[in-house]
Amino acid sequence: MNFLRDIQSLRKKTEDAFPDEEECPHCDGYGYIVTDSDVRICECLKKRQLERRLRHSNIPARYKSKTLETFKADLDSRRLALRQVRRFVEEFDSSPECPGLFLYGAPGTGKTHLAIGALKALIEKGKSGIFYNMVSLAQDFRKQASGEPDEDTVERLELVQDVDVLALDDLGAGRLTDFVQEQIYSLVDHRYSENRCVIVTSNLGLRKLEEQITYPVLSRVRGMCFTVSTGDLDFRNPDLVPSAKK
Ligand SMILES: Nc1ncnc2c1ncn2[C@@H]1O[C@H](COP(=O)(O)OP(=O)(O)OP(=O)(O)O)[C@@H](O)[C@H]1O
Ligand SMILES: [Mg+2]
Ligand SMILES: [Zn+2]
Repeated sequence: MNFLRDIQSLRKKTEDAFPDEEECPHCDGYGYIVTDSDVRICECLKKRQLERRLRHSNIPARYKSKTLETFKADLDSRRLALRQVRRFVEEFDSSPECPGLFLYGAPGTGKTHLAIGALKALIEKGKSGIFYNMVSLAQDFRKQASGEPDEDTVERLELVQDVDVLALDDLGAGRLTDFVQEQIYSLVDHRYSENRCVIVTSNLGLRKLEEQITYPVLSRVRGMCFTVSTGDLDFRNPDLVPSAKK
């Protein structure tokens, strides 16, 4: 069993190991529990790995506490949307050729909330994931092209390519230059070709969305995603009738 001891000592040096001051009584801080017959990962290490994945997930402050459990299913449209998103999360590993969600609906109807709820649920299942708002993504692409991106930008743009789940919020938002459109095409095409999950939200109608991101991107996104409508009732402003929002 010497090699298992070697694994343990290597493990202790990684960032996931328990800090000295709070050593776990089950694994003595190694992160693994070794018995005569096998070695298994300790719950404390699983917890730290989950915390690290959530730290790197780029979820904005307002949405940090949002989950599928905190999404109110008080209307038929919300109940249906929540049910579809939950099913997507449950069946995630068994539907490799349709690895995504396309959430569309009016502003304030819970698209970002549901996208983040699904992203977090998948991270809890052990997947890696990152959240990106389309406008920030375009900014990061421009920073990268300027040749002087900061460390955080470089790290985010590396993750966005191959992370298990990319939540891309507000697809098509902002003024998109040819350069940004090309970068979006390249990213979406890569993830589409590799069967990597995207969770996309948009409050644009299909025609406007096509105008913004071009048909090849729209075609790939819709083709790889289950489509879920969040309806047109603004949760932020329940008193606004749809005509007042136009
Ligand atoms: N059914 C719901 N239950 C609980 N909170 C909700 C629900 N729907 C929306 N919210 C909350 O309302 C706010 C607006 O929702 P969200 O940001 O997800 O809307 P959106 O559809 O993404 O809007 P936009 O198109 O403007 O980006 C958020 O704080 C969200 O958590
Ligand atoms: Mg939103
Ligand atoms: Zn432990």
